[in-house]
Amino acid sequence: MKTIEDIDIKDKTILVRVDYNVPVEKGKIESDLRIRASLPTINYLLEHGAKRIVLISHLGRPKGKLTPETTLSPVTKVLKKLLPDQVIGFYSLPEKGEKIPIPKEVKIALLENLRTDPGEEANDSDFIKNIVYSTDADLYVQDGFAVIHRAHASTDAIKNHLPVYAGLLVEKEINNLKSAIENPQKPLLLIIGGAKVEDKQPLIDKFACLADYIFVGGKIAADGYKSTNEKIIVATDFDENGNGDKLDIGPVSTAKLAELIKDAKTIIWNGLLGYAEDPAYATASTIAAELIGEKEGATTIVCGGDTTAFIEHLEKTHKNLHYSLVSTGGGASLEFLLGKELPGLKAILS
Ligand code: 3PG
Repeated sequence: MKTIEDIDIKDKTILVRVDYNVPVEKGKIESDLRIRASLPTINYLLEHGAKRIVLISHLGRPKGKLTPETTLSPVTKVLKKLLPDQVIGFYSLPEKGEKIPIPKEVKIALLENLRTDPGEEANDSDFIKNIVYSTDADLYVQDGFAVIHRAHASTDAIKNHLPVYAGLLVEKEINNLKSAIENPQKPLLLIIGGAKVEDKQPLIDKFACLADYIFVGGKIAADGYKSTNEKIIVATDFDENGNGDKLDIGPVSTAKLAELIKDAKTIIWNGLLGYAEDPAYATASTIAAELIGEKEGATTIVCGGDTTAFIEHLEKTHKNLHYSLVSTGGGASLEFLLGKELPGLKAILS
């Protein structure tokens, strides 16, 4: 994989595909995890003399329509806060054959939500070619790991129009996930939680051979998940509410999981262990997050939207936790771990 560390950045205009598909409520961004995750690449490009960075992303699934709810403009405010020394501008998607009038002093230009044009999801080569033309881009950098499993114009067709490279986030995500499945330090522990067994079963099947232990908690275990595979350890006791709903795994299962975590050299965690939105049922997930985050010399990967959001929240009060990777891509990391072909990755490998 060729990355931005392999090329001369100086005086180049660089089109960077990021994933700023972030939760927005009434114009306010509720999690800036994905925006912060793009900073190492942006800073690297700036430090190595880039003339300009043009950031492109989607937000939600607007099906080709631009509305006050589907605009990417709220991200500009967060970027300005995170990069206070840079001149940052926000621009509409260009009309066909139009040059976007970006003033010379603007170092970072963020373009409008790509999916407000049907060309993005249609993987329309002309749509992305026009963006390349309109921004005078010299190079393309894929740093939107969370969208790398989509074959869209900005992740796939772009390869027809510019030299393509991986950004630092994509490199970090791929390297961590790859080493966990190809060359893991043993014992390898997979922790599965969450609610939908149909989403998690493929991962359990895939790791039935690779992992030394698979621990199953969350609603999946509470609903009676069973396995005859002796590597698979399913939670057996639960904390219940007044109605008898099993909302967290109990102390016996949590202690068993703690032992496995202490022993493991590689950990992949996907899915919360209880109904952690309610702090009363976040005990097992908090203990697991602390034990994993305090480990030294192990590869520790957290993936899946709910689990990474939980970690992001916990890190506000627990400053000393460290993970090898808190993945920014829910669907993308799952597809990678399952060994599926990722079109956006294929595009930068070709
Ligand atoms: C995500 O949030 O998982 C990515 O941004 C991909 O979004 P999508 O599932 O709408 O393609």
